[in-house]
Amino acid sequence: MTRAKRQMQEDLKLVDMIIELVDARVPVSGRNPDIQEMGKGRGRLIILNKADLADEDRTKAWIAYYRRMGMQVLAVDARQKAELKRIRPLAEEACREKRERDAKRGIRNRTIRAMVCGIPNVGKSTFINSLAGRSMAKTGDKPGVTRGKQWIHLSGGLDLMDTPGILWPKFDDPEAGEKLAMIGSISSDVYEGEELAWKLIGFLRMSYPGALADRYHIEETPDLADADLLTGIAEKRGFVVKGGGVSTERAARVLFDEFRSGKLGRFTLDRLPEET
Ligand code: G4P
Repeated sequence: MTRAKRQMQEDLKLVDMIIELVDARVPVSGRNPDIQEMGKGRGRLIILNKADLADEDRTKAWIAYYRRMGMQVLAVDARQKAELKRIRPLAEEACREKRERDAKRGIRNRTIRAMVCGIPNVGKSTFINSLAGRSMAKTGDKPGVTRGKQWIHLSGGLDLMDTPGILWPKFDDPEAGEKLAMIGSISSDVYEGEELAWKLIGFLRMSYPGALADRYHIEETPDLADADLLTGIAEKRGFVVKGGGVSTERAARVLFDEFRSGKLGRFTLDRLPEET
């Protein structure tokens, strides 16, 4: 077991519940499978964060999916403080079983202690800052980084550990890795930039037909390969290179940029199990 994981297990002993942040664009690929085991016996609240960038209908379907699995779940844009008002009642609900168990053992503690967890870049610092109404340092991206535990006391008896648990992304699943690279959650140098852009184009053509044509005024007809569409974007944007031709590398960068920032639209990369 890695040191980071051991540290996180130690930290988990101090809390009643885990607030697991998952990027709403990758509600499965953005989760760390170990959290299931590590969080056993603790209350669980799933926050589908960056919901402002995800496909609204799919987010609704994913919320229903997680609810069917008996989980408390909320979709938010962590930058919007007002959207986080529902956290407290949901935390109460998520901890109900644990609190009932504790009460039987004579442990009565009104305050709920929670730990925010998630993979790098999912919005943990933003979420904690919004809830706490103040600014704290960025967490960095090292799994399990901890700096002495402090608690942020929120109104209504909810205490947050001020250092979030940094989970490692699913590196062993290549498809999940690609999706995380597409949304910019892991560095895309790991993958070939243009190759990943072709894959993103392929996904968009299949799941969101017309999105690329609308934004870049290119053809999306079936006879064209995904690579042709990338060339089309480079041409339409006028990314010409000295000596002739266009820079598909630059087109790939623009595509990722606009996809990640929401300029291209709102997309969810993971499909529900019943859709696959
Ligand atoms: P982390 O602690 O989990 O590593 O993530 P962090 O809060 O640093 O957030 C990573 C990036 O995601 C930040 O952008 C942050 O503003 C953005 N973000 C967090 N929550 C949301 C959300 O719900 N919706 C959207 N659209 N973005 C969100 P950044 O560009 O890295 O920094 P900055 O521009 O905020 O300075």
